Amino acid sequence: MARAARSVSSAQRAGDPRTPRQWVSWVEKKFRAARLCYGHGTDNPRDEAVFLVFRALGLPFECAPEVLDKPVSKARGERLAELTRRRIRERRPVAYLLQEAWFAGLPFHVDERVLIPRSPIAELILDRFAPWLPAGRARRILDIGTGSGCIAIACAHAFPKASVDAVDVSADALAVARKNVRMHRLQTRVRCLRSDIFSALGNRTYDIIVSNPPYVPARTWRKLPPEYAHEPRLALECGRDGFDVVRRLLAQAAGHLTPRGILVVEVGAGQRALMRAFPGLPFVWLEFERGGDGIFLLTRPDLAALNP
Ligand SMILES: C[S@@+](CC[C@H](N)C(=O)[O-])C[C@H]1O[C@@H](n2cnc3c(N)ncnc32)[C@H](O)[C@@H]1O
Repeated sequence: MARAARSVSSAQRAGDPRTPRQWVSWVEKKFRAARLCYGHGTDNPRDEAVFLVFRALGLPFECAPEVLDKPVSKARGERLAELTRRRIRERRPVAYLLQEAWFAGLPFHVDERVLIPRSPIAELILDRFAPWLPAGRARRILDIGTGSGCIAIACAHAFPKASVDAVDVSADALAVARKNVRMHRLQTRVRCLRSDIFSALGNRTYDIIVSNPPYVPARTWRKLPPEYAHEPRLALECGRDGFDVVRRLLAQAAGHLTPRGILVVEVGAGQRALMRAFPGLPFVWLEFERGGDGIFLLTRPDLAALNP
């Protein structure tokens, strides 16, 4: 890895890549040789290289092809080389290096206080939770474990008349969520609250409760690739079987749903284990055109099985 990082600097001095197009190929080659792990918004070295080069240069992803053949200044080239070197040496995901991530087609500030947004729930939000939301309307939405605020903010965009509560137990994460709420000018509709799951919400009820909680079993968390060590442990690791938060969420959700409200929760690879842990619950496991799984939906009557 150290050798790959050194060759990044020497290639920059030699001035090999000149245009954004050449830089993408160059960065991709370095990433491929360094055998990195992808899973923070991209799933292959090419996409990760495109993300780094385009966004470090301030290019939109849909830029005109001729822009890709214009020379990059020396200073900008040095920055690209430095970012590439850091991605390889520190195994730090590109989103943290750039302090930028995209979710549901929207930009977000991210740093090491929050998980890098990547949940397949984005697709569901863009589809306005169809066909699961009765009448397709939602007046009140709750995002539990909001992190960067990405789910809450994307929901506010998808439902322009809804008010959204974005809760997290981490004060650090809430600072980032608030920054993003301001960036999207949604202060009047998205409220960021410090709450241990439902603890600060009183008896408030919601048409949609959505959550991408921590769900990685402790033993699995310890073995994750180095890229994940840059993310807050509180956002990933969650007890022996990973379900410490999910269990409490399931137990209390019915009391916070409107009569026809829905609960949508991501548990990733924990799908089978959760079904074994709650054999009485009629989980609907959602399917996604853009990939991803491990996300269930339950209605309030479904949850009654837990609290008869
Ligand atoms: C997997 S991250 C999800 C972040 C964001 N929603 C996303 O999808 O990118 C889980 C979040 O849940 C928060 N969290 C962990 N335990 C919590 C709890 N008991 N109550 C509320 N939030 C919690 C973490 O601080 C973290 O921000």
